[in-house]
Amino acid sequence: MVSQDKIASLFQEKFKQSPRWFVAPGRINLIGEHTDYNEGFVMPAAIDKHFLFAVAPNHTSQFYLTALDLNESNSFSLDSLQPGSRWINYLMGVVDSFLKRGKKIGGLSCIFTSTIPAGAGLSSSAALCSGFGYALNEIFGCGLSRLDLALIAQEAEHRFAGTKCGIMDMYASLLSQEGSVMLLDCRSNQHQYLPVHFDDYEFLLIDTKVKHSLNTSGYNDRREACEEGVRILKKEKPAINSLRDVSEAALVSGRSQLNENVFRKCLYVVQEISRTLKAAEHLRSNELKKFGELMYQTHWGLSNDYEVSCEESDWLVRWAAENKVAGARQMGGGFGGCTINLIKKELVSPLKDDVRKKYFATFKKEPEFYSVHLTQGVNELKP
Ligand code: GLA
Repeated sequence: MVSQDKIASLFQEKFKQSPRWFVAPGRINLIGEHTDYNEGFVMPAAIDKHFLFAVAPNHTSQFYLTALDLNESNSFSLDSLQPGSRWINYLMGVVDSFLKRGKKIGGLSCIFTSTIPAGAGLSSSAALCSGFGYALNEIFGCGLSRLDLALIAQEAEHRFAGTKCGIMDMYASLLSQEGSVMLLDCRSNQHQYLPVHFDDYEFLLIDTKVKHSLNTSGYNDRREACEEGVRILKKEKPAINSLRDVSEAALVSGRSQLNENVFRKCLYVVQEISRTLKAAEHLRSNELKKFGELMYQTHWGLSNDYEVSCEESDWLVRWAAENKVAGARQMGGGFGGCTINLIKKELVSPLKDDVRKKYFATFKKEPEFYSVHLTQGVNELKP
């Protein structure tokens, strides 16, 4: 990540102005995977890996943007917004959603940098869209709420980047509270904060170094399978609008109407929604061992039924179980990225050494480790 001082002088040199500063965090998710677009529950938190944006209005209709870590500059105007899969298209999507809502905005000059590893399941694209939207809203006084901005960031991914993601990532990036995770109800878009008091435990992320890509990884296919299940089940029970409305018993009794693939995808989601609620109870009563057992159940559901895991993630989760890690599972959209491990603090250092050696011997690549702290959502840095 490039330092704030360095960016300030670059900004001055390039745009002859002083910027305002905005921070947008990535997120972890403790449990509740692939439940957000099924109107279920999730349990994310923002972390101390983030984008830093330097931004100023430039009184034109042009956007001048530099992604420092990629060493790329690009520009667009308010009337040249185009879908696509590059970072610039995500930002165009955010601008488009402001315009669609009738918000009066002008051009911006912006330089940004990030400490969120891309493709590691830590929601870098959601943080990018959330932080940029927040800056637009503040600079042009548009009066949008944090929830509005989360919906805008989600819309940008749907309409401009073609990923039919849920609301979790941007919601966590925008609405998290320091030291807490949130239990988010993705039907009502309301959340409760659950304070985390892990005296002897911490979360350790282990990056498989298998880069996931939601577009090409079948994320949209999984969503389609869930929607197909709902369409079929709804024929007999019209009150069903999403998998949130389906109990495991009802799903099993409707099994003959669903093909095997759709049944297994729906089964995983229905189980994961109730698992997340159970996990929230364990967190409230600080029963971390029980919480961890649910994380393992989630992983094997993701691997065997939802089929979004990969050999490396499965290997890391098996290794965790063999080494008395309280809970472990693949995190995020899937097909690689990080595993999240709930681990005794005293075990972190020896286990890191152990897994590094064994993972390298098996896959011929080094895993990466991130110890994370839970932070507040997107905010402006005041001088
Ligand atoms: C990605 C999506 C989220 C969510 C997770 C899986 O991170 O962006 O909306 O669906 O995958 O839980």
